[in-house]
Amino acid sequence: MSKITAAITSVQGYVPERVLSNHDLEKMVDTNDEWITSRTGIKERRMAAPGEALSDFGVEIINGICKKRGISPLDIDMVVVGSITGDYRFPSSANVMCDKAGCKNAWGFDLSAACSGFLYALDVGRVYVENGTHKKVIVIGADVMSSIINYKDRATCIIFGDGGGGVLLEPNEEGLGIQDAILKSDGSGREFLLQEIGGSFQPINEDNVNSDRRYVYQEGRTVFKHAVSNMADVAVEIMEKNDLTSDDVAWLVPHQANLRIIDATAKRMGVGTDKVMVNIEKYGNTTAGTIPLCLWEWEEKLKKGDNLVLASFGGGFTWGAIYLKWAY
Ligand code: UT7
Repeated sequence: MSKITAAITSVQGYVPERVLSNHDLEKMVDTNDEWITSRTGIKERRMAAPGEALSDFGVEIINGICKKRGISPLDIDMVVVGSITGDYRFPSSANVMCDKAGCKNAWGFDLSAACSGFLYALDVGRVYVENGTHKKVIVIGADVMSSIINYKDRATCIIFGDGGGGVLLEPNEEGLGIQDAILKSDGSGREFLLQEIGGSFQPINEDNVNSDRRYVYQEGRTVFKHAVSNMADVAVEIMEKNDLTSDDVAWLVPHQANLRIIDATAKRMGVGTDKVMVNIEKYGNTTAGTIPLCLWEWEEKLKKGDNLVLASFGGGFTWGAIYLKWAY
């Protein structure tokens, strides 16, 4: 019997309706459209509606996947969610999503890897399909960044947005789907990008409840330096390990944190801009959401057998690359 691989067989994205443009931000903090556009490539981002939580994004994604694939939520075996903005500290948003979407036969959990959340979750989901125990695994990467961003901090509020997407993984016997993954982390980077207050290290109390440290803090320049070198390195590493030339790569699917980081990665890989998925101008950095949002928007252009390299870098630090063959 041929080896079972885990292949993406459906993809669905979700972004909330409300748009927050660079011009809107000009009225909120000391910034301007020209600075944001030239430094990041972002023109606008989406904002969750009041009361809209990560699980609501997840329900849209799960329902969309099931509808497109012509299956019932009852057919889903497992839901893995990469996110840092779950509905609660616990229970996991995967549990809440399964309840709200009617995935009564599924188990699942959330996985915290910031901007690499989708890649980490995809590799976890892959294992359960490859080992033959699970037939239909939904992998979601999504974040409600507006729930942890300080809209008085121009260093962070211009970058992040809300949204995400998910994929269905199913067994494949044609050798399509996920071929390889290289995932890395370095916790010494935590001081440069983190949400400091609210965990077990510094629980919220009367003294810190109004501190800005309850929001995302980022030392942008340092993170940028690490992102440029590590995301490019790992993308090149996965190409070399799998004997892929730049001509073999149909698409680079990069995490959308900054257009300059994306360009540097593509350049190092020798991949032309026509083969790079970029939608940062519309959605900003949706953390774990960026890569599945790209796959969703490019789905129509993808062909069976296309070689895709997915690459990310983010808080932790966490980074990695996944090489897959598109299956439909
Ligand atoms: O997705 C997870 C991983 N995250 C990333 O990969 C993000 C990596 N970092 C970045 O993308 C960039 O560092 C930023 C977009 C966050 C910042 O861009 P930068 O080119 O690194 O700017 P900077 O922080 O070095 O600041 C340059 C100047 C400073 O002014 P001075 O000191 O040169 O006078 C800042 O005060 O720009 C100023 N500045 C701003 N000006 C207008 C910083 N933020 C803003 C702003 N609007 N929003």
